[in-house]
Amino acid sequence: MIAGNKLRLGVLGSGKGSNFKAIADAFPAGDAPYEIALVASDVADAGILQLARERGVPAHFIAPGKFRTKLDEVAEPAYIRALQEARVDMVVLAGFMRILKGEFLRAFSGRVINIHPSLLPSFPGLEAWKQALDYGVKFTGCTVHFVDQGVDSGPIIAQQVVPILEKDTAATLHARIQEAEHELYPTTIARMARGRIRVVGRQVWTE
Ligand code: GAR
Repeated sequence: MIAGNKLRLGVLGSGKGSNFKAIADAFPAGDAPYEIALVASDVADAGILQLARERGVPAHFIAPGKFRTKLDEVAEPAYIRALQEARVDMVVLAGFMRILKGEFLRAFSGRVINIHPSLLPSFPGLEAWKQALDYGVKFTGCTVHFVDQGVDSGPIIAQQVVPILEKDTAATLHARIQEAEHELYPTTIARMARGRIRVVGRQVWTE
């Protein structure tokens, strides 16, 4: 964070928005070292847009275009423009279910982060909690990482462990991982906003 200025976040999400809510509500009004300048979604009726509007945060549906898993050549510049016009310092992916590549990552180089519901590099991709349960690992969790050109492959910033219990179903495990996400994501973003982060290649440390 630069001398008294709050880090301006642009949050992208496709779903219910519980991570957005955790980030938005983590600190008493005005105390957070960051502010949410914009929320954007590729899903017109996503819960995240509603939660943002309830909190007075500008919230936009931006049509993703013709592809299923990424933004097309019209949508990608539209997302970049919206985030730049909102003077966003960092892009926070909170359940944004499209892969961001090339032009987008160049526009926000080293300034895009994501939360993933497993201990990466185990179980990248979709329904990571289900992958962990099916595999039979005894611990899983969540990971905050920088976004690079690969799928869930960028440098790891922070992780939180969640034990898997014998009685767990996919739903109960996902719920406990989400509880961990709601602690880890705001804490990690706050540390980054306060400048308490050192990056040396793939090694990332926050205090
Ligand atoms: C979160 O659990 C997040 O880890 C996951 O989507 C969920 C969004 O929930 N993201 C991914 O799986 C990305 N690969 P939310 O809308 O309630 O924040």
